[in-house]
Amino acid sequence: MEQLMRNFFLFLSKNRMFTKLAKKYGLRFGASRFVAGESIELAAEVIKELNKQDLDVTIDYLGEFVDNEAEANEMADNSILAIEAIGRENLRSQLSLKMTSMGLDISDELVMNNMRRILTAAKKNDVFVTIDMEDYSRCQKTIEIFKELRNEFDNVGTVIQSYLYRTVKDIEDLNQFSTNLRLVKGAYKESPEVAFPDKKDVDENLKKIIKMHLLNGNYTAVASHDENMISYTKALVEEYNISKDQFEFQMLYGIRPERQLELVKEGYRMRVYVPYGTDWYGYFMRRLAERPANVSFVLKGVFTK
Ligand code: FDA
Repeated sequence: MEQLMRNFFLFLSKNRMFTKLAKKYGLRFGASRFVAGESIELAAEVIKELNKQDLDVTIDYLGEFVDNEAEANEMADNSILAIEAIGRENLRSQLSLKMTSMGLDISDELVMNNMRRILTAAKKNDVFVTIDMEDYSRCQKTIEIFKELRNEFDNVGTVIQSYLYRTVKDIEDLNQFSTNLRLVKGAYKESPEVAFPDKKDVDENLKKIIKMHLLNGNYTAVASHDENMISYTKALVEEYNISKDQFEFQMLYGIRPERQLELVKEGYRMRVYVPYGTDWYGYFMRRLAERPANVSFVLKGVFTK
């Protein structure tokens, strides 16, 4: 049943008509639990509150189905506005973005131009940028772009998903850049030809790459709400005497907020991924797919904005 629900929400997440309608009618159905607001001003207020509680942030301007140059440029412009707001308001925040929203499906030249603009503005404002990882069909291209950008900029990292068979090789390969990587389980529906179908294997592989990346001496973001991953990381850093400055935990805005604060109190760095913008629908559906229990929030939110 849970798998059925998951597939259903992942299917809904790809619906262009619902995406358009959602943009038009604004944050609804309890989505504001996971999305900080529709504008950078609203998102900045949320970040200030999180920073006050010693939580670090990475902010993401939401955008799905970007399939023309003007839209990709507008997405990049909005990411630059977010970077400038971080600098101007002294927010403790990084930036996250998706290659498809920068024009990945349109042309290499477009995506590289947009990324260079963003990383130059980010460098100026001392902001680190993480390239989110999307579905498998974009993985190789995203890694190639990341490598090219990493040769030019030191303020860029990316994400590795433990559900993919290729992952261990990617960690070995990216070690040459001594780079900051976010390690996750993976949020898209993938075929068993490319990804572990069994959750147990996905979990084991996440532990494996956390260990590899940390023991290679690299900065590691463990992005998971799973208590097993948190306790595994804590035990590992204790065993190998790894400094708290070499890693951080990350969770999504609205998910396990009490646990986020507890980890800060325990002395760990905790970064909250804060999405904002009018294009909230696909992101929201992927969160519901991860945890059908969240659907109750939707039902409660149907009659409220
Ligand atoms: P999983 O979903 O396996 O859940 C394990 C356990 O965690 C649950 O059994 C429960 O105990 C606990 N838990 C989970 N949700 C909870 C809740 N709402 N309340 C209480 N307990 C809860 N993916 C991707 O493909 N590309 C990307 O770029 C990113 N980026 C990213 C950034 C950040 C900061 C995070 C946290 C996640 C991502 N992801 C991602 C998503 C990631 O791949 C994955 O889909 C989700 O994090 C869900 O997997 P978990 O590891 O959290 O645990």
